[in-house]
Amino acid sequence: MSLAEELFIGLMSGTSLDGVDGVVARFSAEGGWIGVVGEASRPFPDSLRRDLLALQQSGPDELHRAALVANTLALLSAQVVEDLLQRCALPRSALQAVGSHGQTVRHQPGQHDGIGYTLQLNQPALLAERTGIDVIADFRSRDVAAGGQGAPLVPPFHQAVFGGHNGRRVVVNIGGISNLTVLDGASGPIGFDCGPGNALLDALAQQHLGQPYDAAGAWSAGGTVHPALLQLLLAEPFLGLPPPKSTGRDLFNPAWLTHHLARLSSPPAPQDLQATLCEFTATCIARDVQRHASGGTELLVCGGGAFNTDLLHRLGRQLPGCRIADTGCAGLPPLQVEAAAFAWLARQHCHRETASWPCVTGARGPRILGACYPAA
Ligand SMILES: Nc1ncnc2c1ncn2[C@@H]1O[C@H](COP(=O)(O)OP(=O)(O)O)[C@@H](O)[C@H]1O
Ligand SMILES: [Mg+2]
Repeated sequence: MSLAEELFIGLMSGTSLDGVDGVVARFSAEGGWIGVVGEASRPFPDSLRRDLLALQQSGPDELHRAALVANTLALLSAQVVEDLLQRCALPRSALQAVGSHGQTVRHQPGQHDGIGYTLQLNQPALLAERTGIDVIADFRSRDVAAGGQGAPLVPPFHQAVFGGHNGRRVVVNIGGISNLTVLDGASGPIGFDCGPGNALLDALAQQHLGQPYDAAGAWSAGGTVHPALLQLLLAEPFLGLPPPKSTGRDLFNPAWLTHHLARLSSPPAPQDLQATLCEFTATCIARDVQRHASGGTELLVCGGGAFNTDLLHRLGRQLPGCRIADTGCAGLPPLQVEAAAFAWLARQHCHRETASWPCVTGARGPRILGACYPAA
């Protein structure tokens, strides 16, 4: 590695509540993206996942429970950092900083007093203490303070890695929630949360298959879409809102689904419900691609949803003429994209460079994101 190049670690734990994904990422002295040096992931133990799920809604003693969960998450994150250092054979002194997203438990920007908040449980002080590396955290709050959504933050990173080619390209990250970035569109970059990703599919797979997710979408592929339910779900007002917009489990959660199911005279069998949810997810994404990036589009998929074959088939049927591939084809495997984005966000913070796009988040201006917890 040239002396001028820099290494940052990015850690991501998204709305799927499946675990912590980490990468070591390399940047040029000017901040240009070079690539991933190594990756490591640790799944959430069942107890942590249960506790995090419970904290998605308010409940008794939640401040205390949230603080303890944040400690547990920081300790797991520290293990991912150690895995990365070991795998990449790097001394901790080789790393400039760790960018740690934390776990979103509330996302309500612009609400209440018109300012609102977004809350990622995290304990960056403990992570800095355990790793001996500077930790940058709380990336979203400054954008919310500037009147923005605080999300999605990945579009500028998508531009840095997947932009600069001929033609219009769309990147869709299918995590628990889906977000979409239109690159090189005629009207400039566009980015927003389009709606549900895997969160509802995972919940049903856990309930009926006893599995963390519907592997490759094999279960949903064998079901039949319930047209009336699909129409009810597609009538969700959030889906018709213009960007900037973002969402989370605050909206797309099992209670939201139960509310819609209660309006049906004959609810679908579980497998047909899964097929309907998968079709719903694909339709939300496809409609947004048609709305914001129609014509000659290449769709690059990342996030764990890239492994849901049934979801990709449904997307393909709704977007004929659109080339669909995972981001691995463009040099960055699907499960590394989000973690790498948080390495980039940490890099921007350390260089006091702005990282947000007001055209995406709706904030009053670009801001330097995050707060630093020095190693020593
Ligand atoms: N083989 C697979 N088949 C179907 N879905 C998968 C597979 N692997 C991962 N997933 C989905 O991806 C999710 C994790 O994706 P991830 O990008 O980590 O989301 P998040 O950022 O929300 O945590 C899992 O919860 C699951 O829904
Ligand atoms: Mg995840």
